[in-house]
Parts: sequence; structure tokens; C-alpha cells
Amino acid sequence: RSRNLRLLVLGGDGREHALVWKLRQSPRVREIICLPGNAGIARLARCVPGNPEDPRAVAALVEAEGIDLTVIGPEAPLVAGVADELMGRGRAVFGPTRAAAELEGSKAFAKALMARHGIPTADYRVFDDPQAASEYTAARSGPLVLKADGLAAGKGVVIAREPREALAWIREIMVRRAFGNAGDRLVIEEFLEGEEVSVLAFCDGERVLPMVSAQDHKRACDNDEGPNTGGMGAYSPAPVYTPELAGRVEREILRPTVRAMAAEGRPYRGVLYAGLMITRDGPKVLEFNCRFGDPETQAVLPRLESDLVEVMLACAAGDLRDTTLRWRPEAAVCVVMAAPGYPGAYEKGLPISGLEEAGALPDVTVFHAGTAEKDGRIVTAGGRVLGVTALGPTVGDAVARAYDAVARIDFPGAHYRRDIARRALMRG
Ligand code: AMP
Ligand code: GLY
Repeated sequence: RSRNLRLLVLGGDGREHALVWKLRQSPRVREIICLPGNAGIARLARCVPGNPEDPRAVAALVEAEGIDLTVIGPEAPLVAGVADELMGRGRAVFGPTRAAAELEGSKAFAKALMARHGIPTADYRVFDDPQAASEYTAARSGPLVLKADGLAAGKGVVIAREPREALAWIREIMVRRAFGNAGDRLVIEEFLEGEEVSVLAFCDGERVLPMVSAQDHKRACDNDEGPNTGGMGAYSPAPVYTPELAGRVEREILRPTVRAMAAEGRPYRGVLYAGLMITRDGPKVLEFNCRFGDPETQAVLPRLESDLVEVMLACAAGDLRDTTLRWRPEAAVCVVMAAPGYPGAYEKGLPISGLEEAGALPDVTVFHAGTAEKDGRIVTAGGRVLGVTALGPTVGDAVARAYDAVARIDFPGAHYRRDIARRALMRG
């Protein structure tokens, strides 16, 4: 049990800052390298430039640096086969193979897998041809959900209130290719009503170890208005997710999915992220992701007491049998501060002030997403800029602490939602 481990983390968003922050706390870690990282990560890890989606380049770095464990943050390197390349060279990696990452890389694959194995999800059809999609849609009534099959940076889903609106979107996605190749194939599914919750689970190919629940806020503005984003904030735990529901999700969704993937020759190792709708008929899968959620990770990992390095090594070794997770009882809230214009076009290079003061508040951690250092100052470098996170004895306390920290941070045009976790607070 070496205490001198060298880790490589791929990615450079808020999720990866939270991962590096948590991994750094392990007594077993000597050094962390991050490809490419950001200005916040640079305080905890050595950031190296390069392309995390290039399997050979990543493998070369792993070999040159003598890396003991590579942790893959975003989906793109997974879908590009970075885990396969590293495993092929006998290197420990946390993250699924390309074949297993299809669960996120192709919505049509995920839907078909769920259909084959009786995993609850919305009814759906898949179309390669805009004409057939339009005919199907014209014969329907009520709201429909349209999803580009491939990866579209969280933007490939539209909800059409009625078929006429859906028809316009079919043209937009399949003919005018608003989401590029991702929309060559389209999933059209039934609209589900209920409350959403994100559940992440560690997987070793056979076993699952679920984490505490979280709720994301996908829309850009308060009261769930405005366009969809990568996520404007998160909190954990989600009150809708009772222990009874957690048991049901593990039995009906998480374990059957991992079993199905193994049975189909795509053993799943890494984090399985299930985006769920809690409907009147029980929990149903909205989507799977093959990685940690962003910003859910920023709300979940501060609550994890266990050594994340141990858990990830066990997943990579295919043996979670003796691993358990310990959690802090406190709640966590993450408020995302975004650049003006996000999720549309936005400016970069805006100077950020107040980071030190906010970060010094008790139980507050400011995770960086799109930041860079320029002439000794921290400036914005992306759409989602910061994930201001606080722990508290209750969700209400954590909300108050997070917004107290947000109030001390400033950059021109900073945009954030003022109602993160309001739904949890309204439940009392
Ligand atoms: P996805 O990327 O598939 O999770 O979709 C993005 C968002 O669209 C989800 O977080 C939901 O808010 C919404 N959504 C997706 N599928 C459905 C559905 N079948 N019914 C209602 N809302 C959905
Ligand atoms: N927060 C949603 C996602 O990570 O896809």
C-alpha cells in the first residue's frame, strides 16, 4: 500500500477541481498532475497543457511521469478511448472503456439497453430519417422530448410542448444539424413528469456503491426559466430521495444496469451517473452519464469522508467488495457563477475579485471551473466560472453560507441563480 502515489486527473472544470481537492486529502498521494487543469486546480496540482482526448498522448504522459492512477473527469476522453489505451498498457484508470461509455455517448444505445433489460425509462422511438421522425411526430399529441443521439455538451435535448414545435426542432436538429453529427440520429421520447434527482454510483464492473443524492439546476435563470445549461448549481442531499427510494433505485436501476453492461460484454467501471425522474409510477431514467456530474460533484464530494483514492483504486482493480462509503451528515450547496451571456456566447478574460475572502469563510470552498491566471490575476476563461460551495448542518444553512461567499466575489456581469436549493427549502 504505497503512500507515494502519483495521480493524473484529466479535465479542467469545476468537477475536476473538486476531484483534485478531494484526492489531495488522501495520505496516499504524493503528487497530482492535471491535464489541462485551471487556475484553482493549479494550487493543488501540477497543471500540464495538452489534449486530454488524445489516447496516445495521455498514455505517453502516464508512462513518462510514472502515474499510478489516472482519473478521467469528462466524457469526451472516455468516448475517445483513453481508458482502453491505458488499460491496454497495464495502467490503472478510473473511468469506463469506450464500449462502456456508449451509455452516455449514444442515447439510442442507452435506451435500447434499458429496453432489453427492463430498466424503467420513458417510452421512445429512434429515427435516422427526418421524414419518418416527422410522420411519427405529426400523429402524436402533447409534449415530446427530442434528444440528439450523440454528445452535445448537455445541449442536445429539447422539450417540445406540442407536435408542431417538435416538427420545427426535427428540421433544426436533423436537417440543419444544429448539434452537428450528434443529431444524425434522433431519439423521441415521452415527456415524464416529476422531480429530478441525480444519483452517482461507483462501479467495479460487477458491483455498485451508490453515493448520496444530488439535485442539479439545469436552466440558466431563477424559477427554472431560460435556456438549458451544463448546470447552474446543485445541492445534496435531495429530500425527494428517501432511503426507501434509494433502495428501489439500487435494485431496479443501478444494479440491473451494471449487470446488463457486463452481460453484453461491456463491463462498467467508474462512475455511473443516473439522471432520474421520480414519477408517480416510480423512478425512471432520463439519461445516463459515464462520469461524475458537474456541478453535482462539487456538492457530493465535500460530504464524502472516505478516502477517494482507495475507492477509485478498488474500482480500477475491479473489486469493491471490501469498500464502504462514509458520509458527513452535513448538507452541501454549490452555486455556479457564470460569465455574462452563458450558455450563449460569452466574454473571457474578466478579472475576478474576492476569491481569497470568500474562500476563507468557514465551511466554504470555491471550486474553479473556467478560470485562468493572467499577469498574476485570476480571470474568467469559460462560461461556468466558479462553483461556490458550502457545507452546513441543514440545506438552509449551507445555502446561506454559499450565498454569503458569492456576495464577496465579483467579476463584470457575473451571473448566478439566486434560488439554488429553494425546492429543498420549500419542503421544509
Ligand atoms: P438529459 O440530458 O437527457 O438529462 O436531458 C436534459 C434535461 O431535459 C433533463 O435534465 C430533464 O430536465 C429534461 N428531460 C429529459 N428527458 C425528459 C423526459 N423524458 N421528460 C421530461 N423531461 C425530460
Ligand atoms: N450536471 C449535469 C451533468 O453533469 O451532465
